[in-house]
Amino acid sequence: MISRRKFFQAATLGSVGLTLGSRAVASSANMTAQAVLASAGTKGPASSGYSRMFPGLKPAVPPSPQDVEKGLHKLGEAMFDPNPPQIGMEENKPSSPPAGYTYLGQFIDHDLTLDLTPLSHAADSADDVAQIQNFRTPYFDLDQLYGGGPNLSPFLYQKNPAQRTKERFLIGKTSKGTPADLPRNLQGIALTGDPRQDENLILAQMHVAFLKLHNLVISSRKEMAASPHYKQEGDSDFAIAQRVVRWHYQWIVRHDYLETIVCESIAKKLEDMEKAKRVAPPVNFKIPVEFSMAAFRFGHSMVRNRYDSISHTQKDVTLEKLLSLTGAQGLTPPGAQENTALPDEWRVCWNRFFEILPTTSWINRAETIDTKIAGTLHHLDEPHLKQFSARVLGEAVEPSLPVRSLLRGFRAGLPSGEQVAAEVARRIPGINILKEGEIIDGPHKDILKNPKYGFRNNTPLWYYILKEAELEKVEVKDHKPQYGLSLGPVGSYIVADTMIGALVADRDSYVWSAGYPAWQPTLEGVSAGRGKSMANLLALVSSADDTEDNCDQP
Ligand code: HEM
Repeated sequence: MISRRKFFQAATLGSVGLTLGSRAVASSANMTAQAVLASAGTKGPASSGYSRMFPGLKPAVPPSPQDVEKGLHKLGEAMFDPNPPQIGMEENKPSSPPAGYTYLGQFIDHDLTLDLTPLSHAADSADDVAQIQNFRTPYFDLDQLYGGGPNLSPFLYQKNPAQRTKERFLIGKTSKGTPADLPRNLQGIALTGDPRQDENLILAQMHVAFLKLHNLVISSRKEMAASPHYKQEGDSDFAIAQRVVRWHYQWIVRHDYLETIVCESIAKKLEDMEKAKRVAPPVNFKIPVEFSMAAFRFGHSMVRNRYDSISHTQKDVTLEKLLSLTGAQGLTPPGAQENTALPDEWRVCWNRFFEILPTTSWINRAETIDTKIAGTLHHLDEPHLKQFSARVLGEAVEPSLPVRSLLRGFRAGLPSGEQVAAEVARRIPGINILKEGEIIDGPHKDILKNPKYGFRNNTPLWYYILKEAELEKVEVKDHKPQYGLSLGPVGSYIVADTMIGALVADRDSYVWSAGYPAWQPTLEGVSAGRGKSMANLLALVSSADDTEDNCDQP
């Protein structure tokens, strides 16, 4: 069998190779190239592999790995949620975050980690995860948006030789000519820094919003000069605009997204965690596999099988449809060279996904975080899987996302949920960890208890994280308690520690701006925080370009 390292040496990685990000490329490049890349990316040492957050925790060696894998197949397949109802519509009752947070999570994931290891080779790296190539920089530098910058990824930018150093993104046109789609080539394939950005319609539209944000900022003298921290010596207009966009996005990740998805006990500790990392910044930061192969995959449970309304014309939209409206799938009929544009009526209205004031209509809520995964994610097809994982000739395709996640975690030697929970409780005394009865109680009991599979007191980490979220209780006056609205403490810790690590490890992030914490978002409404920052950013972009003309209607 060809080893995973040889596999990647032999593989042609196409455009992904171009978008490694400045740091990964700069490590092996000479100084001149580094200077060029600095204008496209952030500064600091290269970092391309993965790390382990709990290197001292070794998983139990199973008597029969084949039986464990059989058990993981059964467990993954049983984590099925065909069509859950929307919840939390009663007044004064806390409800799941708006569904936009699901896709903001996926957008963030695509900024931090891309592991293309074929599933069948995942075990080769169990001993040394530093050898697994991460095709994204482990920072919030939006490399999935900027690619390698105008020099390395010119296909992402408008051609305008007279305005070099002021590069604006290309924006694609919909079937009616509205600038509201990803830019695409003649085959309909999206031109992005990471092909996964065209994986579903909501994510693709969010990518477009960020492209527009960059264009808005670079065209506005006022926004570019709104803070003295934006311009650093020798910066082009492009570099300044990129910093404005990145810092606002980083602020949203830290003060809106993270605070929305972590549980209360960890939310209270975020500031201390950040301060501690600033005192001892991570050196040679890499994304931990406990995050990429388990904890941050909690987002798969937030995905809905159908959305009630994504614009005033498109109601009751299935996930399957959202997955099909992409360049890899439905935009180009077989054999045709035309019709590669997004049909105009599929432009997303952001007030269906975030609480944008004044809210005029129905807001889709994210699915609760639990051990049930939307039915469609159990049957992904080859074009979608191709964006996420290379495949070895002859390898059987595993279409179920939960099964893939469980197998990947096992093959990479992740410690069990119980091991990690005990270690997190040691680091953060007082947090609640799950008892055996709580973990196995529920529809998966028989699989979890079956001695052949060995999951007893040895729960797969991803499953444990979903289970603790499912049992995470929010007390509500005059109502029944609510569950699954955020991660539990172990998942929250892994996600928060990784994200704050990524923020602080980046010496060009806003946390290192002179006078910190003096820097505050300068774009209108973005400093509002939890539940509001991303909504306000999208409202700003929409009102500036006036393409969301249909969104005020119910
Ligand atoms: C419709 C929505 C989504 C689809 C179809 C999807 C699909 C996939 C697929 C096919 C993989 C690769 C699985 C493997 O081979 O191991 C993957 C990986 C992953 N997904 Fe998702 N995903 C979705 C949403 C999300 C969300 C909302 C999040 C987080 C909030 C998320 C986080 C991750 C992470 C962290 C990985 C590992 C990435 C890497 O290291 O390469 N995904 N997803």
